Amino acid sequence: MSKYNFDNIVERKGTNSVKYDLSNEIFGTDDIIPMWVADMDFNSPPFILKAIEQRLQHPILAYSIRPDSFTKSITYWLKSRYNWEVDESQISFSPGVVPGMLMSMTAFSNPGDKIIVQPPVYFPFFTTIKANGRQIIYNQLIEKDNYYTMDFNHLESSIDNNTKAIFICNPHNPVGRAWKKDELERIVDICYSKNIKIFSDEIHSDIIIKPNKHIPLASISEKAAEITITIMAPSKTFNMAGLSTSFVVIQNPDLLKKYNKELDAFHLRQGNIFGTVATEAAYSPIGAIWVDEMLDYVTENINFVMGFIHKNLPQISIQKPEATYLLWLNMKELGMTHKELTEFFIHKVGIGINQGRIFGPGGNGYIRMNVATSLSIVKEAMERLKKAIG
Ligand SMILES: Cc1ncc(COP(=O)(O)O)c(C=O)c1O
Repeated sequence: MSKYNFDNIVERKGTNSVKYDLSNEIFGTDDIIPMWVADMDFNSPPFILKAIEQRLQHPILAYSIRPDSFTKSITYWLKSRYNWEVDESQISFSPGVVPGMLMSMTAFSNPGDKIIVQPPVYFPFFTTIKANGRQIIYNQLIEKDNYYTMDFNHLESSIDNNTKAIFICNPHNPVGRAWKKDELERIVDICYSKNIKIFSDEIHSDIIIKPNKHIPLASISEKAAEITITIMAPSKTFNMAGLSTSFVVIQNPDLLKKYNKELDAFHLRQGNIFGTVATEAAYSPIGAIWVDEMLDYVTENINFVMGFIHKNLPQISIQKPEATYLLWLNMKELGMTHKELTEFFIHKVGIGINQGRIFGPGGNGYIRMNVATSLSIVKEAMERLKKAIG
């Protein structure tokens, strides 16, 4: 018997939600089912809301520290969910995963240096690198039957003396891969031998679809731990991205020292009181129960969409994601241009999705659809799609 109800439809309009309250600005209409921004339509778990309410019992919300219990809750989670032993002294802070990637990059490269990304990938990587005067080097993923792998040969040949780091997305948004041990080993071998750092964005590490596993990249070997900065967060997992609280694991003391210097240079160590108590409440045995139930629900939604597409929409092809609640749909057979596909989804289908093109090279002709919502909404979206295509 499940303890939590994910079928509930929660009204999010009028709550300053990016996904709901920016529909008009982004799509030119409010009359769509928003399935774009990567947050969930499920309530943040009750034990997290309760922890925040408890903190509110004290009326002063002034400068605060993160107590040992915050760090302990993180080491507990890393050990219990991924069997990753991390010492509390190896944990640092970031107000978000992208800021953590950014501070890693500014700490370990200079303007003009090259940073590698593997598109199609979460697009703020591109903005962050460009806006800070670094050069983007694309190592495009290889796609076969909508299944993606890394191009190790191209990666190896694209690294030169000016290349300082690679941004890894593990699991990979938007293609839904949970990278396997042998793939991570090859990445580490190449980066170690070429003397470049790895910044591993592991924000989706808990959204794993059975029987897949999340393997923290830094956990696979001593070499990996020596050159990797891992940025994680409870934000996707527990639907609390608005609390701007993430954390950084760095097992090489020299890298940790340099990262912390950067954190202080930006004056970003403070964080947010509610993020601290929410993280502690989340990374707990009760948090694990909630996550497992949420994943069962999301998996059902994914299975529903897969089945629906196979039965009714042979023009669309898709691989079941190994991770994330984001589906990556290949729409190429519809033969539409990027503009036509955009118009089609807004005006004919009536669902708000992300166009694949924004995820960089290899994204054209795909759409990304977020199914972390109630099953009845997913069903309505799929009926709309069938009607529009039919
Ligand atoms: C891969 C990836 N990294 C980072 C983020 C955002 O992280 P933050 O809001 O903590 O900067 C997202 C959000 O969708 C994401 O998918």
